[in-house]
Amino acid sequence: MVAGLRLEFVALVGSAVVIGGAVATAVAPAVGPISVPPSQYWDGSDGPWATFALQLGTPSQNVRLLCSTSGSSIWPVLPQGCAAGDPNDCPTRRGFTFKSNASLTWTEVGLFELPLVAERPLGYTGNGDFGFDNVTVGWQGYGGPTLEHQVVAGIATKNFSWMGMLGLTSHGTNFTDFNDPQPSLLTSLKSKGLVSSSSWGYTAGAPYGPKGVYGSLTFGGYDATRFTPNNMTFLFGADISWDLLVGIQDITSTGNSSSSSSIDLLPSGIMALIDSTIPHIWLPVEACQRFEQTFGLVWDQKTDLYLVDDALHSKLVAQAANITFKLGIGTSGGQTVDVVLPYKSFDLQVTLPNVNNSVRYYPLRRASNESQYALGRTFLQEA
Ligand SMILES: *[C@@H]1O[C@H](CO)[C@@H](O)[C@H](O)[C@H]1NC(C)=O
Ligand SMILES: *[C@@H]1O[C@H](CO)[C@@H](O)[C@H](O)[C@H]1NC(C)=O
Ligand SMILES: *[C@@H]1O[C@H](CO)[C@@H](O)[C@H](O)[C@H]1NC(C)=O
Ligand SMILES: *[C@@H]1O[C@H](CO)[C@@H](O)[C@H](O)[C@H]1NC(C)=O
Ligand SMILES: *[C@@H]1O[C@H](CO)[C@@H](O)[C@H](O)[C@H]1NC(C)=O
Ligand SMILES: *[C@@H]1O[C@H](CO)[C@@H](O)[C@H](O)[C@H]1NC(C)=O
Ligand SMILES: *[C@@H]1O[C@H](CO)[C@@H](O)[C@H](O)[C@H]1NC(C)=O
Ligand SMILES: *[C@@H]1O[C@H](CO)[C@@H](O)[C@H](O)[C@H]1NC(C)=O
Ligand SMILES: *[C@@H]1O[C@H](CO)[C@@H](O)[C@H](O)[C@H]1NC(C)=O
Repeated sequence: MVAGLRLEFVALVGSAVVIGGAVATAVAPAVGPISVPPSQYWDGSDGPWATFALQLGTPSQNVRLLCSTSGSSIWPVLPQGCAAGDPNDCPTRRGFTFKSNASLTWTEVGLFELPLVAERPLGYTGNGDFGFDNVTVGWQGYGGPTLEHQVVAGIATKNFSWMGMLGLTSHGTNFTDFNDPQPSLLTSLKSKGLVSSSSWGYTAGAPYGPKGVYGSLTFGGYDATRFTPNNMTFLFGADISWDLLVGIQDITSTGNSSSSSSIDLLPSGIMALIDSTIPHIWLPVEACQRFEQTFGLVWDQKTDLYLVDDALHSKLVAQAANITFKLGIGTSGGQTVDVVLPYKSFDLQVTLPNVNNSVRYYPLRRASNESQYALGRTFLQEA
């Protein structure tokens, strides 16, 4: 099913990312920045997660997509992503399907494996029907720019929380049939002069809290209202497929009604990938065991998840523990920044296709080795 071609990426030089609002390089405000509006839906089979609004093709078709901090193209769900046995509202649940054969501006390239270098070790796979088409930022009436000839890969896989993906990076997509790397949406905005820098700012948003906050996505800048300033700068790693690496120096749990001392949940510092393509937090087994002991979590082999029943949920709500992730450049020492996640960040529901009904789960995963240490969207709700 997979064509024998490889997708590769082109290195980006001289950028940095700031945590505390996952944000990219500083900006000269000559043009842009361009804000991609949230869809105002909470989506996904294992969320709820905030999605963003785009239009694809001619005439334009609306889609709702999650952000991929490692991706460089646009992956809408195809009609094939909703098959017999899926619920009737599958296309709506999956953020609407993209019918490339109904678009006058679609140019087919072919079926390739999705470039999931960092995600494949975590079990994420899939093929994309790659081609080029117009991409318009936001839905009708938003007035966002339209870019022609963008790399679009229609997917059917349900791996990405049932949704499609919007790649944020400035890396290009190499097809063996074309000489030059095909630019990402960000690079296209930059080369058209619509934004002044190859930078992006993204916060995942979170549905809890007094009002809930939708995600925020900015190309060529960042939304300064969406983070607490700090002095940390993380340089991109040399490997462009694993470039958002941070040190997790410690994870502690505080705020326990029966004890005021904090509990150490991470035996020793690790390097982990920040990746919004995935939903969960993947930690070493020893750390997961400490979470299990501290919070009474029980691993469910059938679903490969920590399912949370009503009794445990009530206990965790009452405990209201705050979990602090201490991030640094390396696994110990140097300047650090704390990102604090309340239990609400971990109080998620998983629905079809993984299980028949929607059930509560705790989005912690056991990593078998260091290639699996990762901070997904759960973490980015508060970062
Ligand atoms: C898509 O781009 C073509 C030019 O390639 C343009 O004629 C068409 O109007 C665009 N479609 C939309 C919906 O903007
Ligand atoms: C487009 O493709 C779908 C299958 O994805 C098919 O059902 C439909 O008939 C096609 N439409 C046209 C105009 O070819
Ligand atoms: C890490 O574990 C995953 C899952 O078991 C496996 O696919 C991968 O090959 C392992 N990587 C290394 C470097 O051992
Ligand atoms: C991805 O999809 C394949 C095929 O349906 C499935 O076996 C695998 O478990 C899925 N992985 C994730 C992470 O959802
Ligand atoms: C991808 O594009 C870059 C820049 O043009 C080039 O250096 C590299 O060789 C290309 N890779 C492939 C596999 O074509
Ligand atoms: C950053 O560091 C400077 C100099 O040490 C200090 O004055 C400032 O308060 C720091 N800012 C933050 C947000 O920590
Ligand atoms: C957790 O942190 C929040 C926000 O700082 C705070 O309001 C709350 O009291 C903390 N919970 C506990 C149990 O300490
Ligand atoms: C709360 O305190 C009790 C008793 O000291 C301890 O068993 C439990 O693990 C603590 N839980 C958290 C979340 O700190
Ligand atoms: C869902 O329900 C069907 C029919 O009751 C059953 O055959 C199937 O095993 C269930 N799937 C899961 C994941 O529980």
